[in-house]
Order: sequence, then C-alpha cells, then structure tokens
Amino acid sequence: GAPVEIALGGIAPGTMITAEWQGKPVWVIHRTQAMIDGLTKNDSHLADPKSERPDYTPDFAKNEGRSRKPEWFICVGICTHLGCSPSPRFAIGGAEGMGSDWEGGFLCPCHGSHFDLAGRVFKNQPAPDNLLIPPYYFVDDNTVMVG
Ligand code: FES
Repeated sequence: GAPVEIALGGIAPGTMITAEWQGKPVWVIHRTQAMIDGLTKNDSHLADPKSERPDYTPDFAKNEGRSRKPEWFICVGICTHLGCSPSPRFAIGGAEGMGSDWEGGFLCPCHGSHFDLAGRVFKNQPAPDNLLIPPYYFVDDNTVMVG
C-alpha cells in the first residue's frame, strides 16, 4: 500500500489522532513530558517491556518509548488479542481495575487488555503482545510518513 502522510501540527500535547494506513487505524499520540517520564514506572509489570519479541517492533522503535521521537508515539490501533480497537485512557493516575500499576494508556473494550502509553501490554492480559509499530519516518518536524 501507499505511504500515508500525516500532519502533526494540530495534535496538541496529551491528545491523539487516528489516521488510516493499509485499511488499519494508525494512532499518532503526542506524548507530554509527564507521559514520557512515566514510561519506565511499570516495566516490571509488562509482558515485553523492552519489546524484544519479533514482529511487533521495528529496530528503530526498540527503546523505552517504542518510537523515533519520545514525544510522538505511532502504532497500529488494533489489539493483539482478537483485533478490537483499544480506547485511549490518558492520565488517569492508576484506576480502571489496575490499581496503582496503570498510569493510563489504552484499554481494549472487548476483553479488557491494558496497554501503556508506548502500546506495551501488561502481564496476564488477554492480549499476548505489544501493539504493532508500523514503518514510518519524519519528513520534517511537522510531518510523518507512515508506510
Ligand atoms: Fe482486545 Fe480481546 S480483542 S482484549
């Protein structure tokens, strides 16, 4: 499929948009500094904190934020369990049935899988793997090309 160009200028910190690439939803989340700083807090509770499993994380995203730039998180918004689309739950500060372990991220409505703000799944969730990171690159500071 053709690459998809996404403008970043209108995405305020702490918000996201959904684009489409190859018929799939692609999320672009503008992480705040607080969101970035919180990423390390729950590593011990994640199924694959360093994204070492094959297939879901390209080499360029094998880092704490699973991204090329810490402030921009881009992933395919399809649950790795049975393919529902999780919903954003940002900045909740621990709630939603995850006690104090969950700083917010994404919650799948179908069977309750929780993901962090880098799309990493928590342990013992229905979803086995982290959310997929698509190929992408930054054309300039305000434009990303997915695909
Ligand atoms: Fe997401 Fe089952 S499809 S938890």
